[in-house]
Amino acid sequence: MAIKKVLITGASRGIGLAIANKLANQYELILHATNEQSFTTPIPNSSIISADFSDPEQVTVFCKRLKKEHGDELYAIINNAGVTLDNSIIFQSEKDIDKMLNVNLKAPIMICKTAMKIFNVRKKGVIINVGSVIGETGNAFQSIYAATKAGLVAFSKSLAKEAAALNDEHEIRVLSIAPGFIATDMTSKLPEVEKQKYFNAIAAKRYGKVEEVAELVSFLLSEQSAYINGTNIHINGGLF
Ligand SMILES: NC(=O)c1ccc[n+]([C@@H]2O[C@H](COP(=O)([O-])OP(=O)(O)OC[C@H]3O[C@@H](n4cnc5c(N)ncnc54)[C@H](OP(=O)(O)O)[C@@H]3O)[C@@H](O)[C@H]2O)c1
Repeated sequence: MAIKKVLITGASRGIGLAIANKLANQYELILHATNEQSFTTPIPNSSIISADFSDPEQVTVFCKRLKKEHGDELYAIINNAGVTLDNSIIFQSEKDIDKMLNVNLKAPIMICKTAMKIFNVRKKGVIINVGSVIGETGNAFQSIYAATKAGLVAFSKSLAKEAAALNDEHEIRVLSIAPGFIATDMTSKLPEVEKQKYFNAIAAKRYGKVEEVAELVSFLLSEQSAYINGTNIHINGGLF
């Protein structure tokens, strides 16, 4: 059977790590984090390419390595790495704005550009961009984060249409997913009052688990989801 390689960015912790653990027996994994030391537990069947996505030059090097070292067998990419730097827009520094734009939006765009070049030749491949419920609802003090996540949704839908515009027949799918409140490092640093606000708004009356997001990603990569394309899939327990 042909080797199928899957890139997971931000795979050292939280949702990305759960996705890596879920996929490790099915695919050969290319894992990413800011540096190799971020990985505290070994994941079978994997190699690592590290890069700080807030630095566009590191993203360029990352994309070149992805194509050169794994392009031949690349089956899917999961753009999961992301940062929140919550603040009022009034006080948000340009440095923090740039960091969120670069890590959450520009790096995924550049990685998708690399992947689309590969997938377009092979006429096959899957892209999953990890957005957020905040990209749809908006949230006070998360305006830049919300903008990056909403941007990913529109970008993903556009790429799905572009794959169709460039090819008569193809099996390229581009999706985004929008997790709600998932228990990870990212959400553990929120103030208690904010956590309670979310909790009260979740119909399921519990926070989401990283493993539940990993299950969704695993399904979206599978042949069983071959007709799911160009859409944004929410996984939030009913968060209104
Ligand atoms: N948790 C939630 O409730 C939630 C909800 C909606 C959407 N999301 C989205 O889901 C994704 C994963 O979230 P999470 O909660 O699992 O986050 P997390 O636990 O904070 O993990 C973040 C991951 O991103 C990597 N990362 C951070 N800064 C980076 C940078 N400058 N360059 C490259 N990589 C960087 C981290 O690598 P290091 O370990 O090296 O720092 C880590 O692997 C994010 O895109 C987030 O926006 C999360």
